[in-house]
Amino acid sequence: MRARRQYSAWLPLGATVPLVCGLHNSIYYERPPMGWRSWNVFNADVTQELMQSVMDAAVRQRIGLDGQSISLAELGYVNIGLDDGWQACNAGVRGSFHDATGKPLINTERFPDLRRMTAYGHDKGLRVGFYANNCICGEVGPTGSDDPDAILEHYVEDVRMIVDYGFDGVKVDACGQYLDMRLWARLLNETGRQVLLENCHWGMQLRLPVKAS
Ligand SMILES: *[C@@H]1O[C@H](CO)[C@@H](O)[C@H](O)[C@H]1NC(C)=O
Repeated sequence: MRARRQYSAWLPLGATVPLVCGLHNSIYYERPPMGWRSWNVFNADVTQELMQSVMDAAVRQRIGLDGQSISLAELGYVNIGLDDGWQACNAGVRGSFHDATGKPLINTERFPDLRRMTAYGHDKGLRVGFYANNCICGEVGPTGSDDPDAILEHYVEDVRMIVDYGFDGVKVDACGQYLDMRLWARLLNETGRQVLLENCHWGMQLRLPVKAS
């Protein structure tokens, strides 16, 4: 069996938009958020069980350089983020993973209970991140459509899910058309929950118009 470089990706998260965020403790983002995200280790082979095992690792006491025990979380690595692979590929409309109302569809074999996953992290004092505008099996919902209502509904339902499921952040990738960071920020803000918003657009700009309001 191929050995897994299990916890080799403990790095400050790149390409982030720092927002004040301190829901579960009083730490504010005075410096770039620090933590871990699943892609570089697990790619698409990520599961809820693996995510929770990484959360266990984040709070496990290890012996530090000074001989005292300390955990990665105590060093500040408190953001544990899911990357691509949570979605139910092709289960939605037009081969997408969103239903006709824009609601995202989860691969429940890999992620039986995302709410339980975020609660698991919160119990350990961690913040749990989500992932949107996916790359694996693509964001083909209304992609290519210029129907502003359908596009807006997709953003709205993603934001509703992020908040309903108790996530504390979201990485917005560049593979679909949901690239409008100002709209993400506004919709998240309107929920009243402080959510860290990470821009992962590889320099790409918004391509399609979104309904203004
Ligand atoms: C929403 O934005 C306002 C204005 O910038 C800010 O005062 C407020 O704290 C924000 N709320 C959240 C939940 O981020």
